[in-house]
Formats: sequence, C-alpha cells, structure tokens
Amino acid sequence: MADETRVADETRVAPETRVADETRVADETRVADETRVAPETGRSAAPALAALAQQAASCTACALAAGRTQVVFGVGDPDADLVFVGEGPGREEDLRGEPFVGRSGQLLDRLMAEELGIDRSRCYIANVVKCRPPDNRDPLPGEIEACRPYLEAQLDLVHPVVVVTLGNFATRLLLGTDRGVTSLRGAAYPFRDGSLVPTFHPAAALRGGGSVVAQMRADLVRAKALLGWSA
Ligand code: URA
Repeated sequence: MADETRVADETRVAPETRVADETRVADETRVADETRVAPETGRSAAPALAALAQQAASCTACALAAGRTQVVFGVGDPDADLVFVGEGPGREEDLRGEPFVGRSGQLLDRLMAEELGIDRSRCYIANVVKCRPPDNRDPLPGEIEACRPYLEAQLDLVHPVVVVTLGNFATRLLLGTDRGVTSLRGAAYPFRDGSLVPTFHPAAALRGGGSVVAQMRADLVRAKALLGWSA
C-alpha cells in the first residue's frame, strides 16, 4: 500500500469542480440522472464483460503475469450503478480469483452493508491492476498503464452512476491527479457521465482505526446520496 497520508503537490483536479459539500451532492445527483444511458440501451453488459474477462485471463502485457495464480478481473453486477475500484489483488484474491476477499474485503463488505444496505452482488468491484504484485508491493507505473485499458473498458461497459475509488492508486489514476486521497476525499468529482467519490483503502482503515473508518462511512453516505438511494 502506498502512504495514504501523502499529499502530492501537483494538482490536476480542476479547483472549480470543488464546491461546497451540500451543493456538490445535489449537483452531482442531477448530472448523473440526466446523462446515464445504460438503462436506455436495454442491454446487459454481462456478455461483453465476460468476453473481456476471458481476454484478460491470458494477458501478458506486464511482468505481473509471471507471478500470478490467476487474473483477478472483477466481480459483481455487470449493470451496477455503483463501482468500487481498489488497487490490486493480494494473496487471498490471487488464490480465489475475486477482488477484496481478504481482511480488507471483509471490512469493505461490512461498510457496504451498514452504510449502503447492499451486498457485493449489487455493485461491481474491480482493481487498478488485475494481477497480484509480488509481496503485496505497490503496482509500478508501467503495470498500471498496461492494465488501464481493462479498467477503462470495465467502466465503459458497466457505465456506473458512481465510482468509489479506494485509496491513492485508483483515485489518482481515475481523477488524473497526483494528489493524495487524504486531501481529495470528502467531496465528489464529476467523472464520465456520473460522479467519483474518493475514499481510503480499507487496508488503511484497518491500520488507522476508528477515525479512518468513520471517514470511509461518510464517503459511502455521500455515494449513497449521489445514487439516490437515501431515504
Ligand atoms: N486490495 C485491493 O486493492 N484489492 C483487492 O482486491 C484486495 C485488496
């Protein structure tokens, strides 16, 4: 895991996208509602996503291919309104072929249930890199770039209303910034046809304890409002 508390100096997230919290949630909700197209197509992304997963299963685009047990492509509802994006598979995920099934995943499942009222079958979960980095090291820039087309294609196909990025790697990649999640979280950002809500990686919450978990909960509540799932 990268240092979750690092705040990089360079900012490519347009400051004008950062408005007061309450306003932002309302605006983002409107944008998502007006522009979402997936339901109108009337077609499920499932077949195309399955074909892409099959293609990824034999990928050798970077050196991570040599050390993997299997490609951990993604899991969940191919037509979900909500997508979580993590960093990369760990040991458990590499063995089981599913994202977030270790300790971090257990925390993610719990927060999903408690704050959103859903289980993982109601969202889609993917990672920045689909193969386990050795010894759980951070993914390298070349590995992230090599794997990026898979993530972009997953987002194209699922076409979610809200993407929740878990930790620095997913947040920086998808927002195109060098800033860290600590300074970016607490807000929603326009992303594709919807919104992106950055939050901590659950591994950071396992290390950081109650205050980090509380901030993750608040971020999920923000995502819930953007999805129109709030009571
Ligand atoms: N951490 C991640 O970023 N992704 C996983 O799938 C598991 C742990």
